[in-house]
Amino acid sequence: MIIQSQAISLKHLLTVESLSEAEVLGLIKRASEFKAGAKCVLPKEKYFVANLFFENSTRTHKSFEVAEKKLGLEVIEFDASTSSVQKGETLYDTVLTMSAIGVDAVVIRHSAEHYYNELVESKTIQCSVINGGDGSGQHPTQCLLDLMTIYQEFGYFEGLKVAIVGDLTHSRVAKSNMQMLKRLGAQVYFSGPLEWYDESFEVYGKYLAIDELVDKVDVMMMLRVQHERHVGNQQFSKEQYHQTYGLTLERAKRMLPHAIIMHPAPVNRDVELADSLVEGLQSRIVQQMTNGVYIRMAVLEAILNGKA
Ligand code: CP
Repeated sequence: MIIQSQAISLKHLLTVESLSEAEVLGLIKRASEFKAGAKCVLPKEKYFVANLFFENSTRTHKSFEVAEKKLGLEVIEFDASTSSVQKGETLYDTVLTMSAIGVDAVVIRHSAEHYYNELVESKTIQCSVINGGDGSGQHPTQCLLDLMTIYQEFGYFEGLKVAIVGDLTHSRVAKSNMQMLKRLGAQVYFSGPLEWYDESFEVYGKYLAIDELVDKVDVMMMLRVQHERHVGNQQFSKEQYHQTYGLTLERAKRMLPHAIIMHPAPVNRDVELADSLVEGLQSRIVQQMTNGVYIRMAVLEAILNGKA
């Protein structure tokens, strides 16, 4: 698959469904150019962006910040714990304030699914919104960086066998990835506890036990067990989960020699996958984090192109 060059222009980035295949491939291409040292030429000299994280994050928050600084953007500090959120300010009013003071784009992570609807429907708010994760909804930039990592490895998506394994119902990463991987022609498989699987996923791929797919797929995409969304409902001990659903050292030995291991991280080591596999030869987990910076540069550039 050869990705054509084209300038991408976006108003917001809320879900992966909102992107065409051409836009996805264009963003991957642009991110690869940034990774190879390309410079960005934005329509205006100065843009202000704010990262509004209402849920914890290391990778998404900090890689957006690095991406913004690499693009020469003015990054507005925001910490929900010291902001007027503590006085009862709503998300809408926080973003309205950012818009009023001249912030061009906001990156938001929030526990409420679809938090962005009221923001983008507002006639007053002028900021572009980039979704950094909405509850158990979607995580579009994680999807894009995952696709970039797969594309760098294989150079195509059509017919590629990708297993998405683990806490599917709580994972916004899984929801973003299953849709876009299917649209790009990959064969998607699911595995993990049936309690964390939903029949609505059937349209995207087939459910199999991990032992039935580990020696057949090109990509083992392991998902984090989202302990914070299972409060009061811990169904498995760590060891039990690892042995029944995880990528153990024994299972990893059965993987195809060219197959890769992915995980959005943070990894619960020795739960989703054996500790030594995280930085092992078949792992692309570190590359995923690195690619996050470049894909976020490409997204920010497309958003600021959209403002012009
Ligand atoms: N993968 C991911 O979203 O990580 P953070 O929660 O650290 O941002």
